[in-house]
Amino acid sequence: MAMPIVDTEYLKQIDKARRELRAFIANKNCAPIMLRLAWHDAGTYDVNTKTGGPNGSIRTEEEYSHGSNNGLKIAIDFCEEIKSKHPRITYADLYQLAGVVAVEVTGGPTVDFVPGRQDSTVSPKEGRLPNATKGAPHLRDIFYRMGLSDKDIVALSGGHTLGRAHPERSGFEGPWTREPLKFDNSYFIELLKGESEGLLKLPTDIALMDDPAFRPYVDLYAKDEDAFFNDYALSHKKLSELGFTPS
Ligand code: HEM
Repeated sequence: MAMPIVDTEYLKQIDKARRELRAFIANKNCAPIMLRLAWHDAGTYDVNTKTGGPNGSIRTEEEYSHGSNNGLKIAIDFCEEIKSKHPRITYADLYQLAGVVAVEVTGGPTVDFVPGRQDSTVSPKEGRLPNATKGAPHLRDIFYRMGLSDKDIVALSGGHTLGRAHPERSGFEGPWTREPLKFDNSYFIELLKGESEGLLKLPTDIALMDDPAFRPYVDLYAKDEDAFFNDYALSHKKLSELGFTPS
């Protein structure tokens, strides 16, 4: 067993880092890429082998060079600026804290954050994150492997209320919503509206609408933002704590 890392001083540093992240993210308008970094560090988790997950391993060149992580080196470097001021904070905690703060400062729900994740430099093989060109069965393969549910899949996909796709990173282009720096339920509203000039829908986004078990959540979140915020906050916390038992 590794040594517990959280003590009073550590909690104080987390609090300072949280404040610095709020200012940094507001200043650089980088909430979307910070959220994507947190998700891609965590989303490699395999509940059966207990490998991958929010352990900071995405900072290794091996892992950030995976095709699905294109562009995320920018967010890794941003986080390094905070890490250099608070060297005790693990990368694993820092990336998840950045994800939680990104949602908070763009107007989204407060996601409970529990510190204490250990760092690893062991990266899982490429291919654990979802492929945007696929459909509902693939989404289930990937998210069930993490130990997550249908509801988690739909709620977390609402993360696409922030940010945009970049052709040079993923081959896709454009934002999902008209205000990509605002965290709200507009991702689901736009999804139900169908094709819209200038807005992106990935095949995996459309799968949420077409699948009979996903669809009720899309309908609910489009008409009830509070329901989305409540479920999103719980699913994001689950994602951020995959394989992690607070000591
Ligand atoms: C961006 C795929 C789930 C948050 C993207 C991009 C793709 C993608 C292709 C564009 C990357 C680029 O070109 O820069 C997927 C697929 C998912 C998924 C297939 C399966 C459901 C999630 C989840 C979250 C998330 C669960 C967070 C909770 C984001 C954010 C961006 C993004 C914030 C914008 C990044 C930026 O503006 O730089 N995603 N994603 N995605 N994704 Fe996802």
